[in-house]
Amino acid sequence: MSRILPCTENTLRKAAQTLLDGGLVVFPTETVYGLGGDALNKQAISRIYNVKSRPLGHPLIVHFSSLGSLNIWTQNIPEYAVKLAKSFWPGPMTLILPRTGTAKDYITGKQNCVGVRIPDQKIALSLLREFEKMGGLGVAAPSANRFGKISPTSAKNVFEDLDKYLAKNDLILNDGICQIGLESTIIDCRFSKPQILRPGPITEKMIHDLCNLQITLPINNSKKRLRVSGSLKKHYAPQAKVFLDGIPRENDGLIALSTHDTPEGVIRLANPKNVQEFANQLYSALRLGDKMNIKKIFVYPPSGIGLELAIKDRLIKML
Ligand code: TXA
Ligand code: MG
Repeated sequence: MSRILPCTENTLRKAAQTLLDGGLVVFPTETVYGLGGDALNKQAISRIYNVKSRPLGHPLIVHFSSLGSLNIWTQNIPEYAVKLAKSFWPGPMTLILPRTGTAKDYITGKQNCVGVRIPDQKIALSLLREFEKMGGLGVAAPSANRFGKISPTSAKNVFEDLDKYLAKNDLILNDGICQIGLESTIIDCRFSKPQILRPGPITEKMIHDLCNLQITLPINNSKKRLRVSGSLKKHYAPQAKVFLDGIPRENDGLIALSTHDTPEGVIRLANPKNVQEFANQLYSALRLGDKMNIKKIFVYPPSGIGLELAIKDRLIKML
């Protein structure tokens, strides 16, 4: 596992240089681990698609360290989007905005908008700052998993999924388990009102309270949809079959709040005490189920309209 590096000043510098040289660096964020490449380097971006086995044209999020970079990548930013950026960045939120010429077709999938995010994670921010100090403008990073599989919430997950597809000099920065464990909220900010494309940790209520605008929620089956992760029918899926209702039997897996009992013979995969812990443990619990070769996993997501919606969104796409 020699490519997995602990995060020190030296390794961060090495990682930033690797990015500038066209290599790939997996780095932790507060949501999930990202597979990063220099957003201005076409070859590096093309390698991201290969390593993930991701269909071309599926756009990538550009990450940078401060609000000052927003104008490099985006333009015609509506006032509400400035508010969102100032309030929730660094944080688990991606804004889709009209692009400048800096955001090339190979990042945006030929769309005229680009996804941008400032992550709220110490190592991610240090890496981005170091990269920017060396002249870089942004790091394109999808979740560091193979296409259609579950996002990784630890460096070990990433190693298991991607090691054999990475090149000799590519790196994985290890900073333990991601604090949130679910992908960022994606908000389309191209129009007069924000539209949530992927529910996430920044909730509809948080957006509404800040902007005082009506918010559109994800629309399914619209031909006009942007290409957002999870808009394909099956996504984020484990090998096991996932059930959101029904009763687990012997040797089935169970993921539920700790207030739920475990029926005899059923394999408890996670025992979260609250919705935050549920979000945080969901992906690793599903991965554990696959490792144990469990065929059916019953998941009882908590109900509610905050982070619960993001949990439900991901689970529905596994069915
Ligand atoms: O939390 C996250 O957002 C993580 C971390 C690493 O930042 N990233 C992540 O990236 O989840 P990814 O590529 O796995 O999912 C982001 C989705 C993409 O599937 C893409 O469809 C959507 O964001 N997206 C990116 N740029 C877009 C654009 N210009 N227009 C529409 N959707 C876009
Ligand atoms: Mg993804």
